[in-house]
Amino acid sequence: MTCKLILGLQWGDEGKGKIVDYLAEKVGHVARFQGGNNAGHTVIVDGVKTVLHLIPSGILQPHANCYLGNGVVIDPEVLKQEIELIESAGLDVKSRLKISPQAHIIMPYHKDLDAALEEKKTNKVGTTKRGIGCAYADKMYRIGIRMSALLDPDSLKEKINSTLQVINPWLTSAGKEAYEVDGLFDWLMDVSANFRDAIIDFSMEMNAIAKSDDDALLCEGAQGTLLDIDFGTYPYVTSSNTMSAAASTGLGLAPRYLNDVWGIMKAYCTRVGEGPFPTEDQGEMGKLLQDKGGEFGATTGRPRKCGWVDLVALKYAVTINGVNALILTKLDILNEIPTIRAAVAYEIDGKQTDRYPIDASVLERVKPVFKDLPGWSEPVEEAENYDAFPANAKAYVKFLEEYLGVDVKIISVGPERKQIVERF
Ligand code: IMP
Repeated sequence: MTCKLILGLQWGDEGKGKIVDYLAEKVGHVARFQGGNNAGHTVIVDGVKTVLHLIPSGILQPHANCYLGNGVVIDPEVLKQEIELIESAGLDVKSRLKISPQAHIIMPYHKDLDAALEEKKTNKVGTTKRGIGCAYADKMYRIGIRMSALLDPDSLKEKINSTLQVINPWLTSAGKEAYEVDGLFDWLMDVSANFRDAIIDFSMEMNAIAKSDDDALLCEGAQGTLLDIDFGTYPYVTSSNTMSAAASTGLGLAPRYLNDVWGIMKAYCTRVGEGPFPTEDQGEMGKLLQDKGGEFGATTGRPRKCGWVDLVALKYAVTINGVNALILTKLDILNEIPTIRAAVAYEIDGKQTDRYPIDASVLERVKPVFKDLPGWSEPVEEAENYDAFPANAKAYVKFLEEYLGVDVKIISVGPERKQIVERF
């Protein structure tokens, strides 16, 4: 009666899409519990690349049922397009996709407000401009439109009307166009036609699946722990809780099922958007990692800043999520780099610490204390199994395990589904 929970431990883009796709082969059900189409999960199967932003990457395994929980914010246009994309690849979606009636809808005005807020801020977050934060904010203001409203068109119109009384003055005062009830109503009913049947009594089903068997359900996190609204580098964060506990509130799933937490970390580190990044390499090495690793955002195409692994931040992420197994991705990108660095402590205002500072303004002042490890020249992806890895690659993995106190169970050594080495 345990579900596997997969989470990013850095600033997102750790390669969760590929790992969820891989693990979904062994489970029947995959659920997303937070975020929206700010995420971008890339999966490559037999050379064909699919980028999903909303539907769990498990959908590419033809037997898996996929769920969008109440903690997710859903852009109906993007959902419609993703359903069409996956169906055009010959996979059935309609019988396998289920949506929580309590999930909030990203409305077109959320994107306008996201852009307007970013324009006004002096401390810009660098959002994906997908309206994510504004949809979550409306949920808290209690003026959001939920998926359940699509099943009751009579009340939907009244809900839109009531919300627009608040939203339209905000929009016009920010120099944006006001919206009309009828236009939004017609658009919503039209765009949701191919997924309204998927809106079901959700959380009871989640708990029944979790109770039915060990590993029947895989919960897929989006973004990463350092982007968590409470525990990340606030205010340079996303607007949902990305940590393990959010799987419970984002699916209506009892916490007793959520004690098998697998944390994903890249063999180096990246960040997209604004905010502190202590181990960033702004020189040639950062550029090399960016080019070799193809580090450009799957959602916005923005170049990702690159640098070395930050073990202080990772230890914090491992601890607050209760990670009991690690997944290391993109180890192949470090092939042929003579010296690999890892931050093992921070120097803040002349004092050394291994504690992650809470405030982003303190994190801005951090000087990382690096440990250097020797690299390897033989490509890790050519090894038949972990034992055949270059000795220095194994030493790097062991060093990460010892610092973080958790075993690395899966290593990804290339973009293809099959380029995975298991250690269990
Ligand atoms: P938002 O989630 O669009 O509001 O953006 C807030 C911050 O989170 C920005 O720095 C984004 O670049 C970042 N962000 C959101 N989603 C992802 C993701 O999936 N990967 C990496 N960064 C993300």
